Amino acid sequence: MTVAQSQLVHAAPDWRNDFPALRQEVNGHPLVYLDSAASAQMPEAVINTVAEYQRHDHANVHRGVHTLSHRATDAFEGARDKIRDFINAASRTEVVLTSGTTESINLVAQSFCRPRLKPGDKILITHLEHHANIVPWQLVCEQTGAELIVAPIDDSGQIEADTLTTLLDQDVFILALGHVSNALGTVNPVREIVAQAKARDIPVLVDGAQGVPHMPVDVQQLGCDFYAFSGHKMFAPTGAGVLYARESLLDAMPPYQGGGDMILEVSFGATVYNELPYKFEAGTPNISGVVGIGAAIDYLQAIGMQRITEYEQHLHNYMVAQLDAIDGIRLIGTAAAKASVQSFLLDDIHAHDLGTILDHQGVAIRTGHHCAMPVMSRMGIAGTARASVALYNSVDDIDRLVEALQKARKLFA
Ligand code: ALA
Repeated sequence: MTVAQSQLVHAAPDWRNDFPALRQEVNGHPLVYLDSAASAQMPEAVINTVAEYQRHDHANVHRGVHTLSHRATDAFEGARDKIRDFINAASRTEVVLTSGTTESINLVAQSFCRPRLKPGDKILITHLEHHANIVPWQLVCEQTGAELIVAPIDDSGQIEADTLTTLLDQDVFILALGHVSNALGTVNPVREIVAQAKARDIPVLVDGAQGVPHMPVDVQQLGCDFYAFSGHKMFAPTGAGVLYARESLLDAMPPYQGGGDMILEVSFGATVYNELPYKFEAGTPNISGVVGIGAAIDYLQAIGMQRITEYEQHLHNYMVAQLDAIDGIRLIGTAAAKASVQSFLLDDIHAHDLGTILDHQGVAIRTGHHCAMPVMSRMGIAGTARASVALYNSVDDIDRLVEALQKARKLFA
């Protein structure tokens, strides 16, 4: 670490104090939470906003004339406006509220792709994807006779750019790729890849679950057609998320699910669907979860996404350097552009054993295939130990991780 980096990291702001879950001891040690890629902790501001909503304002949205229903609707629709602003969507009608990234991607596969796909059409993904950006495409391929093709990655976990370009020339119906790999932390050059696809009139879906918590995202600047993300990776509750989609595409798509709220008029003869984005929001939504996303956006914007990116980048670099210095470590995922995540193996210790030993020392990491089994096969391994940092982590957390790994090594020696 350079002196400048060390000063920056040690001068880390005390954002950690905003997160009550981080103030506890686990197994007799102050908690070091390095599993934000799976689920990030919530700041007090989000917890309080959700609790206040539940205490005073909870009712169903869009349905009642009574005061509580108005308040619930205002809170829910207010969050939609915050999301629009946060990702710079052109209009609030382009912000569809879902249960999370998984539902958002399934919605696109079933509603945008399924009615249009013909046997032999190609869906292009990459070898880096999370299962949520693989299986929905396999399902729609089975349903339509379309073919799933996969852009390879190199040993560092970077998409092979030349092969991707060649594959894009093969009459691709849609390209779906992650912004940041949840398993390896690779940051894909999404803007450049989208530009390549758009030059061939290929629509692009970006799985942004690991992007939005760590960097500014401007969907208009990225130029993508769909951008999916989840609340629980960005300091909000589980079970709520977002599908950004271009209005012209949403307009032409049939509803994904039928039910209340997505209609204007129903009779047994015919149903008239609601306007955008409600056409895609059947049933009572996760209102408090969406309110929580709104509160998380307020929290993130008060700090500033650029500031968060810069801080996390220094912390990530520090983590990689410290891990790399441990004897017997094998870093998995060494692409030039990375965010938040570092996967690794230590000697021949099974990743789950490593995770358990670290937990005994109060250090929480994730172990296994990280819902990205094809990434693991590409690297020739069954799984990894994975540490992922967020804005509330510090150099001290990384030092505790390294210390715990050293202890694990001694134990297994
Ligand atoms: N997809 C989540 C992760 O990467 C659960 O851990």
